[in-house]
Amino acid sequence: MNDLAGKHIVLGLTGGIACYKAAELCRGLVKEGATVQVVMTEASEQFITPVTMQALSGRPVYTSQWDAREPNNMPHINLSRQSDAILIAPCSADFLAKLVHGRADELLSLMCLARPADKVPLLIAPAMNREMWAHPATQRNMKQLSDDGATILGVGSGFQACGETGDGRMLEPHELLEDLVAFLHPKSLAGRKVVVTAGPTFEAMDPIRGITNHSSGKMGFAIARAAREAGADVVLVAGPVHLPTPRGVRRIDVKSAREMLAATEKETVRADVFVATAAVADWRPATHSDQKIKKDGSGAAPTLAFVENPDILATVARTERAKSGALFCVGFAAESHDLVKHATAKRERKGIPLLVGNIGPLTFGQDDNQMLLVDAQGVQELPRASKIECARRLVAEIAQRLPR
Ligand code: CTP
Repeated sequence: MNDLAGKHIVLGLTGGIACYKAAELCRGLVKEGATVQVVMTEASEQFITPVTMQALSGRPVYTSQWDAREPNNMPHINLSRQSDAILIAPCSADFLAKLVHGRADELLSLMCLARPADKVPLLIAPAMNREMWAHPATQRNMKQLSDDGATILGVGSGFQACGETGDGRMLEPHELLEDLVAFLHPKSLAGRKVVVTAGPTFEAMDPIRGITNHSSGKMGFAIARAAREAGADVVLVAGPVHLPTPRGVRRIDVKSAREMLAATEKETVRADVFVATAAVADWRPATHSDQKIKKDGSGAAPTLAFVENPDILATVARTERAKSGALFCVGFAAESHDLVKHATAKRERKGIPLLVGNIGPLTFGQDDNQMLLVDAQGVQELPRASKIECARRLVAEIAQRLPR
């Protein structure tokens, strides 16, 4: 992917053991298409060398405000003016305190102070021991920095290099990347709440067995991520899948269609958009045994009877909010043939403004997809692309159709 194509990022390193993760982060930024200018404090050089960071970024690293390579000898001005964002990762407790006070006694802090704040956002990935993190001074500094317009990306929790366990670890490189990509994305869904269903459902017949399907959940997870990138408050109601939760998305895990319906009904009460991508089992076993159904030795197999599951999308689409247009409902249709005909009929049957059709076997479990958008105006075929690109395109199409 090239999620950061054309972007120029200044990556600042300060003194902390998490500098070892900054190498991976730098690589990730470059892989996503960004150009990266690394700026390091003296303390960070105790943990990782400029040689490593130069090799990974493909550019000489700046460590001093007196760097004579710049014709005007003003790296603090030149470096920040060219960048789309400054990301400090890791940001030590000491460096946080420096930023709060507007100190400028070395290149990185000087550059942060001298940057045009309205054009060059400052993102902070703190990294420190859990006691330092919890200290009121650090928490106070974080609040002040955020009031001053910086974006604090949060911290991870877990085992720390000092041997203690708790909050304060730097986020993992892939998490920081996801946050940065989201940060730089246009906010077409700012202030909106989006609910997405994803994955299969599991309909139990006894405590051991049940009926499910092969839905991977990838498309729904990609839509949740894209909606969050677009600034929405996102709730992902997920059937049983093994996918990581997109950053900044609230996930509710469910198993059966009825659990999915209950969670969805509750979450859509205040939502602006509902996207149903889940492959909900159409039927569930008519009876459920609390104990494992055993063979009785006769060789006879049990007879299974089924009842129909609720249609989650159709149920939500029938609510007053949806009918009034306050809740915009989007459905998916995975068909095996005659896509245009089936998708058009399904949109009308479900009573929804927008339906996305695709050929099931060509998308299940794949990393890419081809979508057909069906609305009251007609049918529009979109080019085949990765699921995240399809999701971003769909989110843009949804945003255009929302009431202002
Ligand atoms: N859907 C739902 N609840 C169900 C069945 C489907 O919310 N019980 C939603 C899906 O998430 C999808 C859309 O309805 O957005 C269409 O799902 P699909 O399985 O293609 O259609 P069905 O309504 O089940 O019709 P059929 O199986 O006859 O094609």
